[in-house]
Amino acid sequence: MEREVRVGVLASGRGSNLEALWRAEQAGTLGARLVAVASDHRTAPALQLAARFGLPALAVDAGPRRGRMTAVAEAEIVAFLRAQRVDLVCLAGFMRLLGTPLLEAYPGAILNIHPSLLPSFPGLEAQARALEHGVKVAGCSVHFVDAGVDTGPIVAQATVPVHEDDTPETLAARILEQEHRLYPYAVRLWAEGRLQVRDRRVFIREPSLGSSGRSREERS
Ligand code: GRF
Repeated sequence: MEREVRVGVLASGRGSNLEALWRAEQAGTLGARLVAVASDHRTAPALQLAARFGLPALAVDAGPRRGRMTAVAEAEIVAFLRAQRVDLVCLAGFMRLLGTPLLEAYPGAILNIHPSLLPSFPGLEAQARALEHGVKVAGCSVHFVDAGVDTGPIVAQATVPVHEDDTPETLAARILEQEHRLYPYAVRLWAEGRLQVRDRRVFIREPSLGSSGRSREERS
């Protein structure tokens, strides 16, 4: 019997992308199942959402707010994800750089969503910086995660127009709408085993008849 792809979400804040993934799962369009949520913030609204959705959740004490987590916190997250038999890790507003423990535990199996058309505007406040720079088109990207800041191979992107009366907030809201569409789509591609990475390029293969999904066991 085919095993479903199990997704763990790491989130630091609001959790609207977590909610979008959950809604897609409920609608049967995710091709995968959410099974775990972890956060570096005990009071993150994303954890309240996890409770509402009945998902096992973990909050770690990750050390000073910015940058990398402590090694202990990262190991705790890895142990939690493994215990929940997570195949794919989705960062959804997770404000920490990943270190070796997570990257080695989930090679080729960590995705992130970022609110810019990468490689432009990686890092914080991407929407405000895009607006200040004067771009006419903005958007979001789902990419594989590596050790850098928003530097991994790009899986999918969506664009939005920039309006002359935009503020960082109105632009961010327009981009967020697209994020909520794009992330479930990218997760589904991964879950269906349709993503092939060659150098920096990610190729999307046609769906193969009769095969849906891959699990961690199948990949290793
Ligand atoms: C999103 O804009 C995402 O692209 C970025 O952080 C924000 C998280 O929002 N990485 P939410 O917590 O998913 O609502």
